[in-house]
Amino acid sequence: MSALPGSPEAAATTGLDDSPVLPAPIDLPPLTEQTRIEAREIIARYPVARSALLPMLHLVQSYQGYVSPEGVALCAEELRLTKAEVGAVATFYTMYKRRPTGRHIVSVCTNTLCAVLGGQRIMDALSADLGVHHDETTADGSITLEHAECLAACDYAPVVTVDYEFYDQQDVESARELVAALRRGEKPHPTRGAPLTDFRGISRQLAGFSQHPDQAAAAVAVDAPGNYEPTLRGLRLAAERGESAPPMRGREPEPADTAEGPRPPHPSQAQGGPRDGAGETVRPSGDTGETPGQEAADARVAAADTPAEKAGAAGAHPDAPEPAGRRLPDGREGTDTPAGREPGTGGQGPDGPSRTIEGRGPARRR
Ligand code: FES
Repeated sequence: MSALPGSPEAAATTGLDDSPVLPAPIDLPPLTEQTRIEAREIIARYPVARSALLPMLHLVQSYQGYVSPEGVALCAEELRLTKAEVGAVATFYTMYKRRPTGRHIVSVCTNTLCAVLGGQRIMDALSADLGVHHDETTADGSITLEHAECLAACDYAPVVTVDYEFYDQQDVESARELVAALRRGEKPHPTRGAPLTDFRGISRQLAGFSQHPDQAAAAVAVDAPGNYEPTLRGLRLAAERGESAPPMRGREPEPADTAEGPRPPHPSQAQGGPRDGAGETVRPSGDTGETPGQEAADARVAAADTPAEKAGAAGAHPDAPEPAGRRLPDGREGTDTPAGREPGTGGQGPDGPSRTIEGRGPARRR
C-alpha cells in the first residue's frame, strides 16, 4: 500500500509533510561518505543523471534496510530532484520499503494460480506463526512478511521468495520449515538461482554492486543449478507432439520454431564475423560517412536474429528518436515522434504501421 498523504508514514518517507515524522530506529546506521561515493558511481553509469534513481534507492536501502528520510534526502541532493519527486518514486514500487525491514523479506504469492494451489494457506499459516500481517516485521527483526501478486513463476506455484530468491512449489509445511531455518540464522539454498543473501545484501546487488569476491564467483552464483523442469515441460510436450508456435509476422519459420532442433548459427557467427551481444565487438569500417557509433549501431541492427532483437537494437540506435522527457540536442525536452508512433507502440499509430528508422522496426525492447 502506498503511504497516504498526511500520514506519518508519508511524512517519514518524503520529509515534506506537516505531520510528525517517525523517529528513525536508534540502531539505524547513518548514511556515510561511502554511500555518497557509491551513489555517484551509479549516477556515472547513466547518460541522464535521474535515470540512476532506482538503483540509488536500492543502495540506500542496502545501508539502512529501507528508504529512510535520510535516504530520500541523499538521492534528492545527488540528483538535484525534490524530496517529493524521490518520495513519489519510492512509494510507487513495492520493492522500496518505507519502514525498517527484517533481516529477510519473505514474500508469499497469493495471486490466482498460487492461491488455488495453496498460496493463501501458506500466507495465513506464516502470518499466524509469526504474529504479523502483510508488510509487518517480527519482533526479533528476523522476518518481514508480505503477500505478493504474482512472482512471475506461475509454473512453479505455489511460490515463496526470500529476498527475491525463489523457493518453488511450497506447501504450508515446507514454508514453515523454510521460515524456521531463516529465523535460526540459516540460509537454505533457493530452488534455483543464486544463493540466498539477506535483504540488505540483495538490495546492494540490485544497486549494481556485486556481493561476490570476483567474476568467477559471480558466474557460479548466477549459474547455480536448479530445477527447471516445470518451465521446460511445455516445450518438451510440444516437441513430443510436433506442435509449434505460428511464425511471427514477417518472418519465415525457423527450425527452432518447429521444435526440430537448435537454431543454426547466425550468418555473422558462421562466417566468424563479429556480433554484438555475443561478447564480441562490432568494428566500424569508418568509410561509410557515418560516425563509428552509427556504423556499430547499424551492424547491431543488421546482426539481430529476431524482430524483438532488431527492434531493441533499433531503439538503441543513435538515430532513434529521443524518448519523451529527454533533452534533445537543440535544448528542447521530449520527442519528435508523433503521438502513437513512439517506439514500443508496435508502430500502430493513427496513420497505421510506422517504422521509426527505415527498415529497423518500430518496437523498443524492454
Ligand atoms: S500466480 Fe504465483 S507466481 Fe504467478
